[in-house]
Amino acid sequence: MKRILVAGGAGFLGSFLCEKLLAMGNSRGDEVISLDNYFSGSKKNIEHLLSNPRFEAIRHDVTQPIHLEIDEIYNLACPASPIHYQHNPVHTTKTCVMGAINMLELARNVKAKIIQASTSEIYGDPLVHPQNEEYFGNVNTIGARSCYDEGKRVAETLFYDYHRQYGVEIKIVRIFNTYGPRMAVNDGRVVSNFIIQALKGDEITIYGDGKQTRSFCYVDDLIDGITNFMNLDSKEFGPINLGNPSEFTIFELAEKIIKLTKSRSKIIFKSLPQNDPLQRKPVIEKAQKLINFSPKIDLEIGLEKTINYFKQTI
Ligand SMILES: NC(=O)c1ccc[n+]([C@@H]2O[C@H](COP(=O)([O-])OP(=O)(O)OC[C@H]3O[C@@H](n4cnc5c(N)ncnc54)[C@H](O)[C@@H]3O)[C@@H](O)[C@H]2O)c1
Repeated sequence: MKRILVAGGAGFLGSFLCEKLLAMGNSRGDEVISLDNYFSGSKKNIEHLLSNPRFEAIRHDVTQPIHLEIDEIYNLACPASPIHYQHNPVHTTKTCVMGAINMLELARNVKAKIIQASTSEIYGDPLVHPQNEEYFGNVNTIGARSCYDEGKRVAETLFYDYHRQYGVEIKIVRIFNTYGPRMAVNDGRVVSNFIIQALKGDEITIYGDGKQTRSFCYVDDLIDGITNFMNLDSKEFGPINLGNPSEFTIFELAEKIIKLTKSRSKIIFKSLPQNDPLQRKPVIEKAQKLINFSPKIDLEIGLEKTINYFKQTI
């Protein structure tokens, strides 16, 4: 039996992770604890798990230390959308840095294995395309996105230093744009934004000319990647990129969503925010080699599932 902590367990990705860990550990009787301050997550995301006696939810801010008897930690606690992480940027940096220290100290104290949810944002506005794990990134230290980008970079540093200095067993995944049901309504991320605008018949807002590209990974594919890497019994610590390398322009995404929602919304263009990357696409060869990672869910199929969720929510 394993006792597994998911920091950020009530968030979009965290709630799917809790669900999967409970299912995977069913025969072993694994217990899953969600730790969350509910800043950008919601109790609703984990409501359906509360009747499971192997699941527990604790309200806690990771900027404060905590002691728990656990075997594994997934550190996902951090607001992920720019609207949320720029709301209180000082707290975002604290969440990334002090949150990482507190989770690493816990791992060190109870000898737990720990995985960090890092991000493609550590590559900043990349000067090489696509991005593999060897690229050091192009990040502005003083921009509006820096609290998140630099915070996540320091967290990676802390993970490696806790490993080298104290022998903590670590893993790092760099997550690229992931979407799916349970993304917060109005969190400003492009997929949820477009879907909501299309469902309401509002104008669909593209920032910039729409030629900037993104790769979109469906949540189930991403969660498989995270758990498989955590359970990979090897001295491979990462970082590894996890995402879907199929690349689409933002304009193509808007068109697909209009088609799938049968919306009459018009597309409008607004100016691009500062430091918004023009291109983002993961090289996933390392993840393919190590854990046979290969996203299976096509954009249209994933969008349909996400659209169905938002139809019920809004
Ligand atoms: N979704 C993506 O595309 C994506 C991409 C790259 C990285 N990530 C990373 O994955 C993780 C989860 O992202 P998500 O999309 O599920 O976002 P989310 O905002 O839905 O989830 C984050 C969760 O962490 C909680 N949280 C935030 N600050 C906290 C604090 N100080 N103490 C305790 N809990 C706190 C929030 O309440 C929320 O439940 C984040 O660390 C994010 O940086 C996500």
